[in-house]
Amino acid sequence: MTAPLGTGELAALFRGTFGAAPDGVWQAPGRVNLIGEHTDYNEGFVLPFAIDRTARVAVRVRPDSTLRLLSTFGNQGLTTADAGALNRATARGWTKYPLGVLWALQQRGLPVPGLDLLLDSDVPRGAGLASSHAIECAVITALNELTAAGLGFEDMVLATRRAENEFVGAPTGIMDQSASLRGSPGHAVFLDCRDQSIRLVPFDASRAGLQMLVIDTKVSHSHAGGGYAARRASCELGAEVLGVASLRDVGLEDLDEAGGLLDEETFRRVRHVVTENDRVLQTIELLRSAGPQSIGPLLDASHASMRDDFEISCPELDLAVEAARSAGALGAHMTGGGFGGSAIALTPVGAVRQVRTAVERSFAQAGYAAPDVFSVRPAAGAMRLA
Ligand code: GLA
Repeated sequence: MTAPLGTGELAALFRGTFGAAPDGVWQAPGRVNLIGEHTDYNEGFVLPFAIDRTARVAVRVRPDSTLRLLSTFGNQGLTTADAGALNRATARGWTKYPLGVLWALQQRGLPVPGLDLLLDSDVPRGAGLASSHAIECAVITALNELTAAGLGFEDMVLATRRAENEFVGAPTGIMDQSASLRGSPGHAVFLDCRDQSIRLVPFDASRAGLQMLVIDTKVSHSHAGGGYAARRASCELGAEVLGVASLRDVGLEDLDEAGGLLDEETFRRVRHVVTENDRVLQTIELLRSAGPQSIGPLLDASHASMRDDFEISCPELDLAVEAARSAGALGAHMTGGGFGGSAIALTPVGAVRQVRTAVERSFAQAGYAAPDVFSVRPAAGAMRLA
């Protein structure tokens, strides 16, 4: 991936492209999830952190209603004469994300102005690192300010979820945008998806002599496809049969009884969610009492649960996790929605090189495309840069 443009470079490119200076430049990060997968739409717990890879938008409000969207990485831009008449059919490629946000704001009754927008991003696309949410959060943060919409954090979370669910067509939850909006350096974001409350949990891997490696398997996924929606449906079925509002209301102590009430597959889906919620709470407790070097076994258990009970892993993710672990990672699991994308591996600094080599070698031996291995650290949430 090419290096991202600096703020000044992006503003200069905007001026050269659109013939006027932008009103400002905003950015929002991608995320990895430390633990808590497929719990968000079950009103459960998640513990993601915003990463030091961001989407940046230079934006100018136009005096007319024309919308011009361009990016530094794709030839698929979009120009439309009427920003007020948005629909899914107009959206192509990455333009779905800014258009989805504009549409969601319109649905809230907010007037959508004409805009010139130039996007740059170094969040890898299709890698399970929430590249689409990074774009959406950068755009909504910019528009909130430019149109003085007065949206608070919860409003922005709900508007971006609506953009994803109803405009993009991906039935996702609220984890990614919450991390992207509220990330903080040196912290993970503990989010209770039932009431949207957030607590920042110190997670300073580098002070503990660790690095969080991302292994992008290059197996591209899309949550607008069937697998994610099917898992969501299984969880809803499980909750219905168990007579609860959501799987958040099922505890470890209820699993035995649930086993007798649910079909075998639904039971395993439910067991993943219930045990994963518990692993999030255990991780937070361990981070507090013993620090990041102690959470490896929970990361491993999370992967096993996603692989065996929730069945959202794939051979490349399993291999990435196994190779990283055998070469010295303390713990590893796939991150994000699954069916491809990335794994994360919590790795002592001294073992980073051997983990990288082991992963690359095992992929080559298996005949898989070369993975991309890089480290990330907890970074700040969405903000204005200029
Ligand atoms: C995707 C979705 C999130 C969440 C994760 C799985 O990243 O966007 O809402 O459901 O998958 O934890």
